[in-house]
Amino acid sequence: MTWHPRHLAQQTGRTFVVTGANSGIGLEAARDLVGRGGHVVLAVRDTAKGEKAAASLAGPGSTSVVQLDLADLDKVTGCATTLLDRHDNFAALVCNAGVMGGPLLLTPQGFERQMATNHLGHAALVAALWPLLHASASRVILVSSGEARDGQLSPQTTREQLLNPTPYDGQQVYRNTKQANLLFAQELHRRCGKAGSPVSAVAVHPGAAATNLFARQLERAGRDRLAAVSKVVTRVLLASAAAGALPTLRALDHSTPSGAFVAPSGFAHLRGRPELLDVYASAKDPATAARLWELTEQVLGRPLPV
Ligand SMILES: NC(=O)c1ccc[n+]([C@@H]2O[C@H](COP(=O)([O-])OP(=O)(O)OC[C@H]3O[C@@H](n4cnc5c(N)ncnc54)[C@H](OP(=O)(O)O)[C@@H]3O)[C@@H](O)[C@H]2O)c1
Repeated sequence: MTWHPRHLAQQTGRTFVVTGANSGIGLEAARDLVGRGGHVVLAVRDTAKGEKAAASLAGPGSTSVVQLDLADLDKVTGCATTLLDRHDNFAALVCNAGVMGGPLLLTPQGFERQMATNHLGHAALVAALWPLLHASASRVILVSSGEARDGQLSPQTTREQLLNPTPYDGQQVYRNTKQANLLFAQELHRRCGKAGSPVSAVAVHPGAAATNLFARQLERAGRDRLAAVSKVVTRVLLASAAAGALPTLRALDHSTPSGAFVAPSGFAHLRGRPELLDVYASAKDPATAARLWELTEQVLGRPLPV
């Protein structure tokens, strides 16, 4: 049966944390959930942008905003503490925020920025929120990408290759981060199953949607005029951000099993109704997932949950 957004239930009384919910796919997922009566916590780098985005979301649900900089592990811990103070239940944590490409930039901890933001920060957030995620039988969603197919992480990947790769190839690092999202979802699913944890994990490929992701890459490289052109071109050629949020919404539907990978069903999985896709070969090997898990634990200096 083709999945349709009407299959997703009303969400009254349920709380969702969505990272990067001030723009693009995260904002559109938040819009839908608020429209279904849910409470959405917009976990955002810039709270002024977050408040503005929250104000654009119409009820019957509600919103709150929390500051989250995934590229700074200390700030991730601070955000998790605030979330645990404010809430006693999470229906889902949507690990959506992401950056793509651009020049080599290092985080305060000295890690390459894309891997730190897209993978490490989200893994740290899951670890810090774990007691409540577990107690609430939450769903953890990792927003990956079709780019995950060409990720090069393997059982032999070293800490240096993961966090300070040289020579620096920004596009390849992005692919690796999206492979890491898919691997992390798969490993979390496997471990929860083995440990009997009620937490479920689902990965998502949004297709190709017109968001700030592409222009930001150009802006970071100092190519502001090209960034302006890219905003127009992507709006014409790509699916809308709302369409890009559909796989996330399907991932939140309880008919979607833990361990699933959700992607648009159309040509090259660029757009269309979300369907369940076979996990890419690059993310199927449990040894690669275990290696990523081990390296992530080493870097975070704490065991990941389960
Ligand atoms: N658009 C597509 O076609 C596409 C395709 C495949 C996968 N994806 C994935 O979809 C996800 C959402 O991206 P999008 O397309 O909606 O792009 P977007 O509009 O640029 O949204 C990205 C969000 O991530 C936030 N973010 C960036 N760095 C952060 C940090 N250090 N801490 C916290 N938040 C941070 C951004 O905040 P600021 O506004 O403050 O920068 C923004 O809210 C990403 O994971 C991306 O890899 C997108």
